[in-house]
Amino acid sequence: MITRIRPLDDDALDEAARLIRGGSLVAFPTETVYGLGADALNDEAVKSIFAAKNRAADNPLIVHICRYEQTFIYATERPFYRELALRFWPGPLTMILPAANALIAPSVRCGLATIAFRSPSAAGARALIERSGRPIAAPSANLSGRPSPTTAAHVYEDMNGRVPLILDGGPCAVGIESTVLDLTGEIPVILRPGIVTAEQLRAVTGEVRIHPAALAQLAAGEKAASPGMKYKHYAPRARVTVVSGRRRVETLQSLYDQTANAVLLVSAATAARLRGKIELCGNGDAASAAHELFSALRRCDELGCEQIFAEGYDASDEGLGVMNRLLRAAAFDHIDTDQL
Ligand code: TXA
Ligand code: MG
Repeated sequence: MITRIRPLDDDALDEAARLIRGGSLVAFPTETVYGLGADALNDEAVKSIFAAKNRAADNPLIVHICRYEQTFIYATERPFYRELALRFWPGPLTMILPAANALIAPSVRCGLATIAFRSPSAAGARALIERSGRPIAAPSANLSGRPSPTTAAHVYEDMNGRVPLILDGGPCAVGIESTVLDLTGEIPVILRPGIVTAEQLRAVTGEVRIHPAALAQLAAGEKAASPGMKYKHYAPRARVTVVSGRRRVETLQSLYDQTANAVLLVSAATAARLRGKIELCGNGDAASAAHELFSALRRCDELGCEQIFAEGYDASDEGLGVMNRLLRAAAFDHIDTDQL
């Protein structure tokens, strides 16, 4: 299959919408990361997403829609759903609701009784949903196990020959995937932290729990609330160690000095205090680190280094989403210098 990249214009959107309606895949930009989309009502089309990504067959997909009322065709309402939709949609929040019927293709939810929905804010994503006239099932447009793509070039690296069309809408604004919130229980639970923070959600719902798997490895045999949590994620080819806390700069330097073929993955502010091979990621705040994290991990891979020492963040607010991705990339290899 030939993969074409087209700038996101009117004509390209029309072609993309035709492809979706015809049961093909299209990679498209959202505000979080690029998605690999298919008609969520067409089971054959959805199955081809799993094949293109080498995705495990038990890891369900997010359904992308434009207006929150559309979910009532497919799912049952839950407390806080409307208030959260009015406050955070369109935007980087995914909400899980109980399925009401079998209209959404079975492969989307992989046998679960629930469906994850998101209304993206990126204009290109919205136009694609509108013009195709379909809810669009879309995971991140990377090969499973690779960092999520935040540019069309990243998508091409992973998906060349696996998707007919990539819509290029430039770099994604947020840079990490949406916050996933499960609304099916009594208290809303964050299954995957993102740029919409627990505090922001609590302002609407009162209580919100954060699933322990946000920052820790599942115990052997433990059942994953979100199947995606049990897979190794966002893994670059090199080994990754996360170093956080007040003494992180000294610790990063001494680890680097003792290791062959290593690279430091740090903010610009921290880089000014270090000597060695450096890949920059952000300006020192968690939101700018989120924006650059996945492209920085891909650049580290291109360097062919064997060990990445990555600067960690406080695991609160936006920092929670960044640490979730970093710790998974590191397979939970973490040095917190405040705990030494
Ligand atoms: O920002 C995003 O969410 C991006 C863009 C493209 O919208 N999409 C994305 O999709 O990150 P994906 O497939 O890479 O991650 C979806 C996560 C997975 O961890 C999956 O297990 C979980 O959401 N998920 C999907 N449906 C679920 C459900 N019904 N119950 C629990 N978890 C679910
Ligand atoms: Mg993904």
